[in-house]
Amino acid sequence: MQRWEQLAAVPSPGGSLALWRRGDEFRIRIGGLDLMGSREHGSEDELGRLGCAGLPPTARVLVGGLGLGFTLGSALANLGPGAAVEVAEANPVVLEWNRTLLGHLAGQPLADPRVTVFVGDVARRIRGARWDAILLDVDNGPEALSSPDNAGLYDATGLWTAAAALRPGGRLGVWSVRDDAAFTRRLHAAGFAATVSRVSAWPGSGRKHWLWMASRPPG
Ligand SMILES: C[S@@+](CC[C@H](N)C(=O)[O-])C[C@H]1O[C@@H](n2cnc3c(N)ncnc32)[C@H](O)[C@@H]1O
Repeated sequence: MQRWEQLAAVPSPGGSLALWRRGDEFRIRIGGLDLMGSREHGSEDELGRLGCAGLPPTARVLVGGLGLGFTLGSALANLGPGAAVEVAEANPVVLEWNRTLLGHLAGQPLADPRVTVFVGDVARRIRGARWDAILLDVDNGPEALSSPDNAGLYDATGLWTAAAALRPGGRLGVWSVRDDAAFTRRLHAAGFAATVSRVSAWPGSGRKHWLWMASRPPG
């Protein structure tokens, strides 16, 4: 059995952000907790698929954050050639890791000409434009893990801000390691029609993750 080795680590608001490898498997950890692993990405793929399938040909999509790139890769696979996807990643080192060691995991999504990169807090880009979809996987669910500031993405003000940034009929998708009934209630209070689904961490896996797909009513 190969051992996990730490390839790199940098300080971040949520604690040490580190890249680990065991053979061809990779993990990003923050403050000693797993943030994302390369073996189980069924639910991250599903966030991209549910968030982007059926959007208009010139859709504008915001993905935050990059991680190992699976949600971004899936969003691109479910959008047409005229779409534009901006990925907001708070930690520049994650972009560097994706451009060097990790890009092959999700089909080199940063090299896709439809992709632009914003280095910084995804909250700034939610406020900064109008989107057909905003797909959030920056923590382990609707509670701040990567940074205390992320709490503002999931509270009532953050959800009203996201609703205002979406075009009518636009979608907010949020990934989580567990269900959160209070978050579902806050989505409804912010005017979203929201569903939460339990998704396999990997096809056939008993391990489940949770995805909220919340639509801003059309018109
Ligand atoms: C769980 S990983 C994302 C996994 C990704 N969905 C995938 O498919 O690999 C979370 C990422 O969000 C980034 N992040 C955390 N808070 C952020 C924020 N406020 N804005 C942008 N990126 C953020 C982290 O640095 C990390 O790269």
